Amino acid sequence: MAVQGNYMAQQARLVYVEIGAGDLKASIRFANQGIRVIAIDPFPPNALAIQELEAAGGIFLRGTASTVKMPAEDREVDHVFSYFPWDVPGGVAVMGSYTFTLVADAARLLKANGTARFVCRISDTAEFLIERARELGLRTDPVRTSTAGEAAPGASGFGTSLAALDMPPFSPLTEVWEVNIRK
Ligand SMILES: C[S@@+](CC[C@H](N)C(=O)[O-])C[C@H]1O[C@@H](n2cnc3c(N)ncnc32)[C@H](O)[C@@H]1O
Repeated sequence: MAVQGNYMAQQARLVYVEIGAGDLKASIRFANQGIRVIAIDPFPPNALAIQELEAAGGIFLRGTASTVKMPAEDREVDHVFSYFPWDVPGGVAVMGSYTFTLVADAARLLKANGTARFVCRISDTAEFLIERARELGLRTDPVRTSTAGEAAPGASGFGTSLAALDMPPFSPLTEVWEVNIRK
């Protein structure tokens, strides 16, 4: 009976992917809630953060969402999130910026009816992501405004890459734009 119980618990465990996981704070928060979290970023966080994520059952994968090799058992996931993808001012994404391929990357990783949530610093980024989602035939909710603390719990707002040093100041009260998508 206990074996069957364990099996069912494993089957029911939600799997999340964080794209652009930065210092892993948001990933660790979800992992501590019992969710298996796969955190992706081309710039590695510090070793202690990786250990903390692994201790909670998650993993860190160094790379981009477009190229990273997912573990075989996690090919299709329940939820993909990205907190503060690079801004797309005027709706023009820089080729090579991960925001450019974020929706397509998420759609590839999600299982049917899986959801994605992207929390953006500017409304143009949110509109850009909604347009990409519609092009791919994904269902979208209207963009909503919120605060960083509410929409992106645990996130510190800054990545570990040097590019993050140019980011505007960030606090849990910073206004953000939330994009919710369903496959
Ligand atoms: C603005 S930071 C946000 C970090 C973290 N989510 C947070 O809220 O603190 C964006 C992150 O995206 C990462 N990044 C850059 N290019 C990426 C790519 N192609 N795929 C995944 N992550 C990428 C950066 O290294 C950085 O950690």
